Amino acid sequence: MNHPAPPRPLVLDSIAAARAALEGRGDIVLVPTMGALHDGHLALVARALELGSTVVVSIFVNPLQFGPNEDLDRYPRTLDADVEKLAAVGVPYVFAPTAADMYPTGAAQTRVVAGRVGGMLEGRSRPGHFDGVLTVVAKLLQIIRPTFVVFGQKDAQQVFLVRQMVADLNIPVTVVTVETVRDETGLALSSRNRFLSPTEKRAAHAIPLALEAAASYADRGIDAALAAAQGTIMGEPLVELDYLKIVHPETFLPADDDYRGPALALAAARVGSTRLIDNAPIVLAG
Ligand code: PAF
Repeated sequence: MNHPAPPRPLVLDSIAAARAALEGRGDIVLVPTMGALHDGHLALVARALELGSTVVVSIFVNPLQFGPNEDLDRYPRTLDADVEKLAAVGVPYVFAPTAADMYPTGAAQTRVVAGRVGGMLEGRSRPGHFDGVLTVVAKLLQIIRPTFVVFGQKDAQQVFLVRQMVADLNIPVTVVTVETVRDETGLALSSRNRFLSPTEKRAAHAIPLALEAAASYADRGIDAALAAAQGTIMGEPLVELDYLKIVHPETFLPADDDYRGPALALAAARVGSTRLIDNAPIVLAG
């Protein structure tokens, strides 16, 4: 039996259109994205559709979170293909504003400051990145006013900082996370994976392998876990490590040498011209 095709998403291309369309819609579930949607995003959407029927997927490549020498210009913009994917799974609303609508005076003068953790790890390698992320997420939450907002655990530091912002600024939204989706080799899905050549993609597999190594050696303590992960990355010459760290899951600060218990291993590395991040839960013992 043929099922009727789900209605197409309504594409809201301005803040005013979003406010008008969503007025009085009840509980809204927001999935913030920068587009170039892959199965990882679709897992967020699937979770969002479980949480409520008024799902809004925002697609906005946020200039504020890219540094001057980063990949803003080459970041993939595939709105038509993205809307097709969202139509296929029954998403009712896509919010795709222009940069001029989001930042009418150029760059926002008033910004959210991500604080101590915002300057570490990703924030150390990408100064100002998390201020840009939090500023746009705060704006999206103000514009869409969702009850739930859904993020992927792949961006663990981003999730931590969004939760911190929501608590610090008393924003009335529940943050929901979804586990990282991986390809058949274990590589975390990312919009940037499309820039990897087949050889680079094979090499990038060393990143999840390194995190697995950290997890396997975690029962011998933090140094053993880090050494095992580092050794795995060093074995792959095409992968240039940026950082490899183990943090406490509640503070996101580096775990002390004598800490025992659940932790998060995080890695960032460059493969060719593409920068990738990943993380995995581990349990430190030993
Ligand atoms: O994770 C992302 O894609 C972005 O950082 C986000 C949350 C959509 C903000 O631009």
